[in-house]
Amino acid sequence: GDVARGQQIFNMNCAACHAGGQNVIMPEKTLEKDALEKYLSGGRSEASVVTQVTYGKAAMPAFGGRLTDSEISDVASYVIQTSENGWK
Ligand code: HEM
Repeated sequence: GDVARGQQIFNMNCAACHAGGQNVIMPEKTLEKDALEKYLSGGRSEASVVTQVTYGKAAMPAFGGRLTDSEISDVASYVIQTSENGWK
């Protein structure tokens, strides 16, 4: 996916709860590399992020129908790439 577009989508739809790759509702479930490996259903991959964003999980809302499949793919690429580079 398009990481630059993914960053814009993240800032508009995800940063309310995940600013700086953190998690204001469940503080241990961050978007950092180690947390994604430990907690993300399916492990740390773009496909796993796509699934969680599409369907939601617990207190995280579903974005399927609100974001297109292409937008979800782009935001997943941004999350995985930034987890590798480190959230600033
Ligand atoms: C968990 C991504 C929007 C609340 C996660 C995780 C990812 C993620 C990858 C797994 C983190 C982990 O298990 O360590 C995103 C993306 C979003 C988004 C890309 C935008 C498209 C939001 C919003 C909220 C939210 C807006 C709050 C209203 C949560 C919560 C969890 C979570 C509570 C933990 C779920 C659980 O396992 O109980 N998010 N998120 N997320 N997110 Fe989001």
